[in-house]
Amino acid sequence: MSVTQEQLYAGLDLDLSWSERELPERERTKHVHRLHPYLGKYIPQLVEELFRRHVPPGGRVLDPFAGSGTTLVQALESGHDSVGVDIAAFNCLLMRVKTAVYNPFVLEHELRDALARFERGDGRSGRVPAYVRRWYASPAAEHLLRFRSLVGDYEHADVLRVVLARAARSARRTTHFDLDFPREPQLEPYWCHKHKRECRPVETADRFIRRYTLDTLARLKDFSRLRGGHAVDVLHGDARALSLPGKFDAVVTSPPYPGLIDYHEQHRYAYALLRLDDRRASEIGAAAGGVSRASLAAYVDGVASVLASCRDAMRPRGRVVIVVNDRRELYAEILERAGLGLEQRYQRHVNRRTGRRAGEYFEDVLVARRA
Ligand SMILES: C[S@@+](CC[C@H](N)C(=O)[O-])C[C@H]1O[C@@H](n2cnc3c(N)ncnc32)[C@H](O)[C@@H]1O
Repeated sequence: MSVTQEQLYAGLDLDLSWSERELPERERTKHVHRLHPYLGKYIPQLVEELFRRHVPPGGRVLDPFAGSGTTLVQALESGHDSVGVDIAAFNCLLMRVKTAVYNPFVLEHELRDALARFERGDGRSGRVPAYVRRWYASPAAEHLLRFRSLVGDYEHADVLRVVLARAARSARRTTHFDLDFPREPQLEPYWCHKHKRECRPVETADRFIRRYTLDTLARLKDFSRLRGGHAVDVLHGDARALSLPGKFDAVVTSPPYPGLIDYHEQHRYAYALLRLDDRRASEIGAAAGGVSRASLAAYVDGVASVLASCRDAMRPRGRVVIVVNDRRELYAEILERAGLGLEQRYQRHVNRRTGRRAGEYFEDVLVARRA
C-alpha cells in the first residue's frame, strides 16, 4: 500500500488499517475472542501492535475499561502480566473464563458430562422468572433453566455459565437482524432483512446449548496452547473508585464513548438468567444517559478521574494508550484534567463489513504520559 501526502497529513496509520482481506473475521475472532458476542470491542491484532510499539517486553499492563478482555487475552499471548477492571459483572465473568488456566482433560470431561446429562433430561427448570417468560418460547425456557440447574455441580461452573448466556442470547424471540438491543419479543414469523426471506422466532435452546458447549471447549483448548504462564487479575468495580494493585508499565484501553452503547443492557439475558449484580447506574457514558451537556460533562469527569488513577499507578516511563473515536473532541480536556500530556496521536481506518452497524469510520490512538 502506498501512502499519499493526504493520508500522511491526516496522521492515518496504514499499518493499523487492515482491509478485510488482510485481516479476515476468523482471525479477528480467533480462539477465545469469540466465546460470547460483545458489542464495542477492539480487535486483538490492534492490541498486539500497540503492545509492540508502546509496552516494554514483559511490562505489566492495565486496562481500566477491560470489557470482553481483549487486552488481557492479548497480554497473555504477548507475554505480559495484566489487570483488567470493568463495572459490568457479565464482562468480568467472561474475562475470567477467557483468561483462566485450565486442565484440558478436566475441562473436557466436565463440559461433556454436563451436556450429556442435559441431553438425557436431567435437571429441573423450577420457577420461570418474568424475563424468561417474556423473551423465550416455553421449550426454550425449559432447556435454559434446566441447563442452569446443572451448572453449579461443576468445578468449571463459570465456563458453563458463559455457554448458558450464549445459548440464551441465540434463543430469544427476536428477529435475526436485531440481536443487540431488541425492544419487544418477536412472536410471529417476520420478513428477515438479513436472510432475505421469511424467518420464524426461535422455539428451542437445546441445539444452541450443544453447539456452544462444544465450540467453547474447542476455543478454550486452542487458547490454552498459547496462554503461557502470565498472571491476569480481573477486578469487578467502578474504575473511578478502585484502588489499583501495584505499579504498571502501560495502560492500553478503549473507554466507553458517550451515548453509544449500554454495556449492561446488551447482555440483559445473562443478568436475568445468572442473577448477576447489575451496576448499570455506574456505567460511564451509557447510551441511556444521552448526550446532553450535563451527560458529556459527567463523562469527561468520569474518564478523567479514571485516567488520573491510572497515572498514579504508572511506573515513571509508562505510557497510557487510548483507542477512541473522539468525534466530540473531548480528549484534549480529559487528558489535561488527568495530568497526562499527549505524546503521539495517530488514526486508523476501520471498515466494518457485517451487521446492521456496518460502515467506515476513523479511530484515534492517543499515546500519553505523565505531564
Ligand atoms: C469500549 S468498552 C471496552 C471494550 C474492550 N476494549 C474489549 O475489547 O472488549 C468500555 C467498557 O467500559 C466499561 N465501563 C463503563 N463504565 C465503567 C466504570 N465506571 N468502571 C469500569 N468500567 C466501566 C463498560 O462496561 C465497557 O465494558
